Amino acid sequence: MSLASVTDITTSTKINSGHSPMKTAFTEHAKVEVPLICGPMYPCSNLELVAAVSKAGGLGVVQPVSLTFVHKQDFRQALRDIKAITDNPIGMNALIEKSSKRYHDKMVEWVDIALEEGVRFFITSLGNPKWVVDAVEPHGGIVYHDVTEKKWAQKGIDGGAHGLIAVNNRAGGHAGAKSKQQLLDELQGFNVPIVCAGGIGNEQQYVEAMDMGFAACQLGTRFIATKECTSSVPYKEAIVKADEDDIVLSERITGVPVSIINTDLIQSQGTKPGKFASWLLKHPKGKHWMRMFYTIRAAFKLRKSSMDETGKQEYWQAGKSVAGINEIEPAGDIVERFKQALIKR
Ligand SMILES: Cc1cc2nc3c(=O)[nH]c(=O)nc-3n(C[C@H](O)[C@H](O)[C@H](O)COP(=O)(O)O)c2cc1C
Repeated sequence: MSLASVTDITTSTKINSGHSPMKTAFTEHAKVEVPLICGPMYPCSNLELVAAVSKAGGLGVVQPVSLTFVHKQDFRQALRDIKAITDNPIGMNALIEKSSKRYHDKMVEWVDIALEEGVRFFITSLGNPKWVVDAVEPHGGIVYHDVTEKKWAQKGIDGGAHGLIAVNNRAGGHAGAKSKQQLLDELQGFNVPIVCAGGIGNEQQYVEAMDMGFAACQLGTRFIATKECTSSVPYKEAIVKADEDDIVLSERITGVPVSIINTDLIQSQGTKPGKFASWLLKHPKGKHWMRMFYTIRAAFKLRKSSMDETGKQEYWQAGKSVAGINEIEPAGDIVERFKQALIKR
């Protein structure tokens, strides 16, 4: 199917509901049955989780830094291990911030490996997706770009992105500042499929977002509290116990606001960077080094805390969708329940 005919399929599932309640421009692009993405998550994306979501008909997305640095896997082998579990499509997250040449070169290599191993759906975050679009389009690949506002969407579309992931103010990880409705209103004019990311914890919220006109929903927090996710039990239990008031934005982890559970550790440290770090983050040159320092430190801190079964390292990223999450479940059951809710509405 050509790209033009894909974008002709309305982003709204409402209009499709007479035929196939699940068919959207996103399902056509990603070649999956259910318009539901298990979003990439550093440090929580492990291959078993990605495979379980794809096997159930959604789209599992690999996060290469999580696979290689946290889960100590060879990237190509991990993709083959997923393929041994399911032949269904998966996606890959390319974080394309050009903060270091070494990191960029590694990302180029990971995109190439993913293409060689048959991955055709890519989610880009931070930066201009053009080089990813140029690399994957000749292979029939599709790129959706993560955005929090219109100016980043424009950059993504100018770079050739085929769809947008609208990261709202309820999302886990790096949250946006706008509501899902505000983002939908702002981004609809680009005439590409728009995915809702943030605040979807249960099937009612999922159906509501799909009825608004999103082409799919991307969930992160919900899929941490699953049997297949290898993050620690205390982390998963904290998600199940938390309510939305327990989620705060901390700038102390990566230097930009990250949604996190307001644990005793977070409360004792506060959510704002110290005076020296704040000064450096505003400085035109210092900003780059401070961000780099934060990113590297965060990579270690988040890895350690996600694996720590004592529950003492409470750096637990999660979004306000915690309010709709009441138990640790198999990932496939979640996809199936959401799918049935979409069919029944
Ligand atoms: C623990 C955690 C780590 C995340 N890491 C990434 C990441 O590495 N790359 C990315 O593009 N998005 C990342 N995200 C965002 C998710 O892919 C997804 O968009 C978001 O979690 C949706 O909001 P929700 O958590 O309310 O479902 C992360 C989210 C969480 C909760």
